[in-house]
Amino acid sequence: MLPILIQNLLARDGWILRGTEAVRKDRRIRFFNRPSPEIAAIARHDGQRFRHLAIVIASSHAEMERLRAPKLADKFPRALFASLEELQTGHPVELPPPAIASFTATVIANTPVGDTHYQLAFQAEELRHLRPPQFFMMDVRPVRAPLGLRAVCRGKWRDAVDRTPQPLLKRPFGICRDFHPHFPADYLKRLDLPTSLTPFLYLPAPDRFDMLYKVLPDALGTPLMTRLKRGDRVHMIGPLGQPFDVRRLRADGIEEVHLVGGGVGMAPLITLIEALRFHAFRVKVFLGIATVQSLRYRDELAATFGEKPRDAYVYVDDFLAAGVAPADIFVSCDVAPPRRIRRLPPENLFHGLVPEQYRRFLATACGKPMAITCGPNRMMEVMADICRDAGVPLKVLLEKRMGCGIGVCFSCVQKVRRPDGAEEFARVCKEGPLFDAKDILWNNHLSKPPSVACGCAPRC
Ligand SMILES: Cc1cc2nc3c(=O)[nH]c(=O)nc-3n(C[C@H](O)[C@H](O)[C@H](O)COP(=O)(O)OP(=O)(O)OC[C@H]3O[C@@H](n4cnc5c(N)ncnc54)[C@H](O)[C@@H]3O)c2cc1C
Ligand code: FES
Repeated sequence: MLPILIQNLLARDGWILRGTEAVRKDRRIRFFNRPSPEIAAIARHDGQRFRHLAIVIASSHAEMERLRAPKLADKFPRALFASLEELQTGHPVELPPPAIASFTATVIANTPVGDTHYQLAFQAEELRHLRPPQFFMMDVRPVRAPLGLRAVCRGKWRDAVDRTPQPLLKRPFGICRDFHPHFPADYLKRLDLPTSLTPFLYLPAPDRFDMLYKVLPDALGTPLMTRLKRGDRVHMIGPLGQPFDVRRLRADGIEEVHLVGGGVGMAPLITLIEALRFHAFRVKVFLGIATVQSLRYRDELAATFGEKPRDAYVYVDDFLAAGVAPADIFVSCDVAPPRRIRRLPPENLFHGLVPEQYRRFLATACGKPMAITCGPNRMMEVMADICRDAGVPLKVLLEKRMGCGIGVCFSCVQKVRRPDGAEEFARVCKEGPLFDAKDILWNNHLSKPPSVACGCAPRC
């Protein structure tokens, strides 16, 4: 028999209960409280349709975290998880930020995208608790294999020593996509969960991640990262920063969220899009780029989600895979007028800057949306003005130069206004990276990155 709370939540969404199974039209959900061979049978019979699901209800949150670990994924193939402890409170519990780990990730692929971007796929179980928009810091070069004593004695170290200048400090990056064991990359297109139950549901923890990075001209770190290759081991720390619990938005009456990203600023917003879609929010995406060509994969096989690899576009295919409708995807190109992009309505393509396209959209839109933006500082400042004038609450994801990533060095500060009106500097790595736009004082006197991050070298 299902706990009464689950029965009430399901009944609210029109699901009919039969013992430990809930049914609505052609959808069925079966509940379990322990591993069972039936979970694998459900996944096998359902294939990729997501019409028949298994939900495992653990007694406590800690027990649920244990069960959804990647190493147990084969025991619960394609199952979702919930904890009785959280269900009994009747509302989603606010979880503390996950503990920071220092670890070595394994590179799966490092693929060029467009003219200046790369997509790095890597395996790192330690990031499984990362909740968007948390980020991580990584070395830009792989861990070097230690030389054996014999090699040193034979003088081989002369050839083995890598004399390429190596930045001392790690670089901060956001996760662009996470992959859950047994869940296909585009599962959100088909997943249709009872809306009242989704705040209490969790996917199996991810262990594979994608990040998208821009190779900066005349920079030290990102050009070196392009040399990373499959099998390399890279040192990282994370998850860092504060998670943003999208489940809380419903309590504020928000049903629709607009994500506005400028260039590579869109990359860390994609995991937020996935979280919003999982929790059944309506999502509209506004992407600002230089040219459509800059979204093309250089290697067709790199396109993970494109139905036709030759027609695949980075970001756009991520949005489609996350179940965002083509009519809700808007693209602005500031250099050349945008040509056709597969499946996007032509009226959603705009020649100009993305804040301008968003301003025009808001002029005709209705409802009570909120917006989240990430991109160049000037773009976010303009977005703050547009949203203030339209009465749309805006959150900004700040990307500052970082030294430590854990709140110690104060190289990432942003001037903000506290609720009592006083001004102070907040650490983006500790208090951020997501802030309410109304709290940001854009004339940040320290916004110019210090030329010396830690005092140990002119460029570290
Ligand atoms: C939370 C967070 C998430 C991020 N996510 C991504 C991501 O998903 N993809 C991505 O491509 N980049 C992301 N960045 C930015 C990324 O960290 C920088 O592009 C990278 O560190 C540059 O390293 P570099 O060694 O190549 O540049 P450096 O040699 O250190 O600097 C080259 C030039 O770039 C400028 N610069 C360096 N870092 C930044 C920065 N953070 N903001 C503004 N200017 C900077 C420097 O002032 C300098 O002029 C993120 C940053 C933060 C803080
Ligand atoms: S990077 Fe050191 S305090 Fe933020």
